[in-house]
Amino acid sequence: MTIANAEFIKALPKAELHLHIEGSLEPELMLSLAEKNGITLPYATLADIEAAYHFDDLQSFLDLYYLGAGVLIDEQDFYDLMWRYMLRCKAENIVHTEMMFDPQTHTDRGVSFATVLNGFCRAMDDAKEQWGQSSYLIMCFLRHLSEEDAIETLQLALPFKNRIKAVGLDSSEVGHPPEKFQRVFKMAADAGFLRVAHAGEEGPAQYIHDAIALLDVQRIDHGVRCVDDEVLVARLAASRMPLTVCPLSNVRLCVYDSMTEHPILDLLSQGVCVTVNSDDPSYFGGYLCENFEALAQALDMTQGQAIDLCRNSFEASFLDTVDKNRFTAMLANG
Ligand code: HPA
Ligand code: ZN
Repeated sequence: MTIANAEFIKALPKAELHLHIEGSLEPELMLSLAEKNGITLPYATLADIEAAYHFDDLQSFLDLYYLGAGVLIDEQDFYDLMWRYMLRCKAENIVHTEMMFDPQTHTDRGVSFATVLNGFCRAMDDAKEQWGQSSYLIMCFLRHLSEEDAIETLQLALPFKNRIKAVGLDSSEVGHPPEKFQRVFKMAADAGFLRVAHAGEEGPAQYIHDAIALLDVQRIDHGVRCVDDEVLVARLAASRMPLTVCPLSNVRLCVYDSMTEHPILDLLSQGVCVTVNSDDPSYFGGYLCENFEALAQALDMTQGQAIDLCRNSFEASFLDTVDKNRFTAMLANG
């Protein structure tokens, strides 16, 4: 029962399935893009940014996250953001990633959908060509905006359908239940998009039930509030409905007071298909390996549990069976 250490974690082939690409915007890049694009931020230095990144809840984070994303203007900015995360995948042995992006955060500021997509896709294609990086995009609708806005965004995405694997639902959860987006998710399904939704991060376990029943999702993002409902946990385990869990995010957004309270390993032992992810790493203090390391430190996560979590990440991915098996075999062969 050896505890997984940093070296062991780094060497494991991993899939990351819950990463907001705008949440990987590092303070250095934010400041340099602000200067290049003539945008005034309420921060002058890296220390100012660091001092601002203390959050009481999801909303207090989202306010700064949307502010930061405002420095992204031209295609090269979106390329540079994506390229840095692609390099991070290579460094951390993240052999496959399914990344979320929030088009409305950009189109509402007058940046075109094509500018965003073309920048992201060019970096993803370069990473694929240079070291075989496997990656997909998930387009999220902002749940604090209306369903009509989401439908317009879905229409903007149709010409890029072959570059977007799934749609998702993010932003302020409480008060914006899954049922608000039932029609647009049905339209997305009919257009051939897979579906995920944030549910049960700050919102109740009922939102997890509803995302499954009303939005017909293939995965739940976060989902940790399922622990309030034993029947739901049993159902998630029996159906192998994946949860993309984000440990450092949950602590930084005060879902848990400390990592020692985190239920991910209990859920794993109950047969739920939980996976480890970084959510918004530049805001929450760590990329994927650091999330695994935090579990090892606080919860004595063993090497065997780390392997099980990585195996789940391939099972829960949207890869085809051949690629799932290929990556899972890499895990088994060490
Ligand atoms: N929850 C909801 N919306 C988000 C998050 C999150 O953790 N990160 C970026 N948008
Ligand atoms: Zn998220």
